[in-house]
Amino acid sequence: MTSSTPKNRLKNLGRLLPATALCLWALPANAANLISNGTFDTAKDPWWGNASSTADPPADQTIAVEDGKLCVTMTSAGSNPWDEILGYSGIALVKDTYYKISFSASADVERTIKFKTGLGSAPYSDYFVQTVSLTTTPQDFTVTYRSVRDDPMAQFQFQIGKTPGKVCFDNIAIEDVPAPVDEPYTTPSLTGKPLSAFPKVVMMGTAVDTPIFLSNPRHNQIVANEFNMITPANSMKMNLIQPVQGMFDYADTDALRAWATSKNLEFRGHPLVWHTQAPDWIKGTEFTRDEMIQFMYAHIDALMGHYQGLPYWDVVNEALDDSGNGFRSTFWHDRIGDDFIDLAFARARAADPNTKLFYNDYNIEQAGNPKGDSAFNFVKALKDRGVPIDGVGLQAHYFVTPDGGTSGVPSMDAIRANMARYAEIGVEVHITECDFRLGKPLDQAKTDMQSKFYSELLQICIDAPNCSHFTVWGLSDLDSWVPSTFTEYDYAHLYDSALMPKPAYQAMTQVFAKYNPDGTLIGGSPSGGSPPSGGSQAGGESKDSGCAIAPAGPARKTGSLAVLLGALGLSTLARRASKRRRS
Ligand code: XIL
Repeated sequence: MTSSTPKNRLKNLGRLLPATALCLWALPANAANLISNGTFDTAKDPWWGNASSTADPPADQTIAVEDGKLCVTMTSAGSNPWDEILGYSGIALVKDTYYKISFSASADVERTIKFKTGLGSAPYSDYFVQTVSLTTTPQDFTVTYRSVRDDPMAQFQFQIGKTPGKVCFDNIAIEDVPAPVDEPYTTPSLTGKPLSAFPKVVMMGTAVDTPIFLSNPRHNQIVANEFNMITPANSMKMNLIQPVQGMFDYADTDALRAWATSKNLEFRGHPLVWHTQAPDWIKGTEFTRDEMIQFMYAHIDALMGHYQGLPYWDVVNEALDDSGNGFRSTFWHDRIGDDFIDLAFARARAADPNTKLFYNDYNIEQAGNPKGDSAFNFVKALKDRGVPIDGVGLQAHYFVTPDGGTSGVPSMDAIRANMARYAEIGVEVHITECDFRLGKPLDQAKTDMQSKFYSELLQICIDAPNCSHFTVWGLSDLDSWVPSTFTEYDYAHLYDSALMPKPAYQAMTQVFAKYNPDGTLIGGSPSGGSPPSGGSQAGGESKDSGCAIAPAGPARKTGSLAVLLGALGLSTLARRASKRRRS
C-alpha cells in the first residue's frame, strides 16, 4: 500500500466491480471497433501475454487459438491476479471519451478474472474496471469506461493469474460511445427523502474511488442524489498525485472534482500529509529535516494551489500512535520532528486562507479511550499555541467481530462527550470515514447492529453543535475497501454489492425523518434553521424531487453554548448551537 510500483499501484487503485454493474449502451451509428483481431477465427495476434517470472511460484502460460477462441492455459498461475496477463496494446484511448467494451468468456472451472486498462509509464492510469465471474459456459459481458487521459500506449488487459486452469475469450470489441445520459432518480428511502435532503441538519458525504466513478453510472447517480459531499478515496494520496518528485498527476482528481461541481456536491481534500500510500521517492533515508520540510511544503502548495477554494482539507492524517502515547513513528515525524504537524497546518493556512483545516484520524472518536484522549489533548495544545486548525476528522471505522463480538462497537456516550469537549475549545468535528464492517458470515444480528450503529452515530452528529458533516467511506459493498483490507470482514456500507440500500440506509433516513429540511425538529419550535458550517456548495437545496428548501431564517434564540462559541468568534458553531437548542 505504500509503494508506487505498478503492482501496488494497481492494488491501491483497484476497486473490483462484479458483473452486476454491467451497463448497456446505445451505439452511435458510426461506432468503430478499435480492436483489429477480437474474433480469433485463425490467429491470436496481436494479443500477447505476460507471465511473471518473479512470482512465487513463477507463473507460466500458453496462449493459442482453439475452436475460434483465444485460450490461455496457466501451467503455473502464480500467487496474484497480475502474475498472468492477457492484453492488447495500442488502443490510443482519448481523454474524456467513453468506451464500451464487450467480450465473451468462459473457463474450465468457475472463477473470477479482472478486466482493466492501463499503460506502462508514469503518470499511468491502471484501473481495475471490473471483476468478471466466469463459468464453463461462454457468457457475454459488457463494460463501460471513461478515459480521463490521452493514452496512446494504453493496454486493454485481463488479469487471470492466481487460479490455475484455462480461460477462453471471443468476440472482443472496444467502441467509443456517447456519454451516458443521467436517468431520472427515485430515492429508495422509505421516507421519500434521500439522505441529502437535510443539509441544514447534517451534510452527508461519501468517499468515491476513481475506477467505479469511471465505469459505473448507476453508482454516480446514487452518489449525486443521496449525498452532499464527496471525498476522493485514493486519487489525492501522495503516491498517486505526486508519484515522481515534482510531477503532479491531477487527472483523476480533476475529473472527480469537475463532476462534483456539476452535481452541486462539496469536495473534501484528503489527505495532504500521510505516511501511508506515499511514493517511494520521499521515503529515502538520506533526506535531512530541511529537505523533508521542503518536500512537505511543495506538496501542500501544489495541491492547495491546484484545488484552491475547497471547503475542507485533511491536512495531516493518522499521525498519532494507536497506544495513545504521542506521535506515531513515521517518515514524516521521524525525519522532521514533533513540529511537523504545526508546520503543515501553518503552511496550509498560508496556501488557502479560506478553507477549513482538519486533523484526521481513526479510533479517536471516544472520550476516555487512550487514543481519543491523546488526540484531544494534542489538538487542544495545537489550539493553545496558535496553530491554525479548524476541525478534527473522526474517521469512525468500527466493526462487529466474526463471532458477533462487540469489542469494535464504540460507546455512543463517549463519542457525545468527545464532540462536546471539542466544541468547548472551539473545534469542529466531522465524521469523515464512517463504516461498520461485519465479520463473516453475515447474519441478522450483525445487520441489526449495523443499523443501530449508523443511526445512533448520525443522531450524535446531528445533536452536536460542532458536527456538520457525516461522511461514509464508500457507497456500497460493490467498491468496498474492507474485504481486501480486513479479510475476515465485509458488508460495511449502506448499499449492498447490487447497489441496493440496506436496513442501515433506511435507519439513517428514519433519523432524518424527525427533522424539517430547515433543520428544526418536526413538531418542535417553529423557528427558522441555520446553515451548517461554511463552504457549502450544496446547502439550501434539497435533492428530493428537485424541491427547493426555503432559505434559513435568522437564529432567534441563543443558548449558553451558542453564547460561549459566539464569544469565541465561532459564529458558525454558535449558529448551530442555537439551532440545536431550538430543536
Ligand atoms: C483507504 C482506501 O479506501 C483504500 O482503497 C486504499 O487501498 C487504502 O486506503 N484511512 C484513511 C483513508 O484516511 O484514506 C483510507 O482509505 C482508509 C483509512
